[in-house]
Formats: sequence, structure tokens, C-alpha cells
Amino acid sequence: MTPLIVDTDPGVDDAYAIALAARASEVELRAVTAVFGNVDLATTTTNARRLLGMLGRGDVPLGVGAERPLIHPTTQRAADVHGDDGLGGVAERFGPLGPEPAGRALDVIADVLSAATEPVVLAAIGPLTDVALLLATRPDLAERIGRLVVMGGSIGIGGNVSAGAEFNVWSDPEAARRVLVEERVPTTLVPLDLTHVVTVDRAWLSALAASGPVGEALAATRDVYARGEALGVDRVPIHDAVALLEAVAPGTLATVPLELEVDTSLGPARGTVLADRRGRAPGGRTVDVAVPDGTDVDGVRAALLRRLGDHM
Ligand code: RIB
Ligand code: CA
Repeated sequence: MTPLIVDTDPGVDDAYAIALAARASEVELRAVTAVFGNVDLATTTTNARRLLGMLGRGDVPLGVGAERPLIHPTTQRAADVHGDDGLGGVAERFGPLGPEPAGRALDVIADVLSAATEPVVLAAIGPLTDVALLLATRPDLAERIGRLVVMGGSIGIGGNVSAGAEFNVWSDPEAARRVLVEERVPTTLVPLDLTHVVTVDRAWLSALAASGPVGEALAATRDVYARGEALGVDRVPIHDAVALLEAVAPGTLATVPLELEVDTSLGPARGTVLADRRGRAPGGRTVDVAVPDGTDVDGVRAALLRRLGDHM
């Protein structure tokens, strides 16, 4: 089975993603690392412990990652979307905490990469600070990452935290530029362009809630999360779960290779991801960007429900 590491800022949709990763038969979840983002690091770390505990995965080492971005601190979190507890105001529904963290995220990730006998998939579903730091401090381990799957960015539909920027990239644009533009690890980006199409409705959430205790807890986050992620329709995006589905089942999402740029200025476009479609000189670094065109959106929703349901 493919070794998998998840770097995460739980986070409601992160909770869906971690549940999917913990149960996916195609992968072996070797580590979870918590990073600041939706809420502060202490809370994302506690939530990661709670999720691993609820999923019966106390065997998975938890690493504590970055508390803030590389360069310019951002005070804005996303408690308005994920609730002050980061889990839709129902954190207690996810049960008691799992084991204490095993150490610092970079050390936990480095241990997994060093010990792996096959390429590791690294799924990054929060700000990219930990990934940027890992690649900067341990370039020797980059070749052990077979694939990086990132939830983030928006290349054509505008942002969710500013006119152009998506929250994960906006939270640390310098880290995002390092990872998406400067590094060379094979990368798939799952942007808002797709996650705002693969939304789930009340019927889907009801089916999930009826599937068992994990599905019930996940669905219970809806009221707070839906208000925060208001898309003007009675549906919610579970961004990170879509990215993890691609991580555990490569090729589920249709992708196009694009040369990307990330705005790291301090102006109104800060954190915006630009796709350069000019087809410049061959050999330029491209990222496989997931797009709705060619993705079986209904099939993705069904797969998410099947994988997240306790007994489905
Ligand atoms: O913009 C959506 C992303 O930002 C998701 O990863 C969500 O959890 C938040 O981190
Ligand atoms: Ca997230």
C-alpha cells in the first residue's frame, strides 16, 4: 500500500479528509501533521488528536507543525467558517483525544520519508508552511515524495478569502510559491474551481449522518460550516475531502498541466494563483491542476459518501 502523510489544519473539511484517509484501503496513513490555518495551531493539533482518536487510529503519529507563516504574519483565521473549536462547534461529538503528539511535524515527516521503501504521497490541505520548510531544510528527502497533492488556490473563479485568493494559499503565499512554483516535486493542485463544483447537499449529508457515528459527527458540523461557506445555495464544499480522494485514488479528478505563479506582493492580489496558459518554452515546471471539465462530479460525490460512511 502507498504510504500517505497528511498535513492539515482541522478544520471541518479537513475532518472529512482525515476520515477518508484513515479508511482508504489503497494507502497506509503513516503520519498526520497539524499546521496553523482555519484556527490556531493549538486547536488544529487538538482537533487532529480528536479525529485520530475517534477513527481508532491512535497508531498514526501526530506531528506539530508551523504556528505561523514563513514571512508575513496573518491574524485572520477561519473560525467564522469552521467555528471557534474548528469543528463546526461540535468538537465534543468527535470523542476524546487520541495520543499526545509524537514530536515536531518536520521530524515526524522526515522519519516517515526516511523509512519509506516506496514513494510517499504527501497531502497538504492547509497552508503550505510545513511543506515549504520541509523542502527547504531537507532537500535530500524531496525525491522520497512520489506525489504532493495540495488543496488550494483558485485559477479562474476568484477567491474565498479575498477577490482572488483562496484561504490556504493566502495564509502563506511565500510558502505556496515555494511549493507550487520553485520546487520540483510532482504536484497535483485541487483548487476552488473544482471544489466549488463538487459540493454536497442536505440529502448527501443525511445519508452520511445515517451511516454511523463518524458520519453523524461529520454531518453535525453542517450548520456552522454552511453559514461560513455560504455559496448562496443549499450545498457545502468539502474541499479537503476532494483532494484526499485524489491522493488515495490517483486519476479520480481530471487535471490539466499548468505553469503557475503565486502573487506574494502585499497588495490586493496577495495570495492569488495565476495560471500561465501561454505555453512558453518547454521544460517549464507544470502542476497538474484539477478541473471540473472531465471530472465525474456525481461519481466523486458518490465515492466520498461510500468511503466516509461507516458501513456503506
Ligand atoms: O479554501 C479552503 C481551504 O482552506 C480548506 O483546506 C479549508 O480547510 C481551509 O483550510
Ligand atoms: Ca484545510
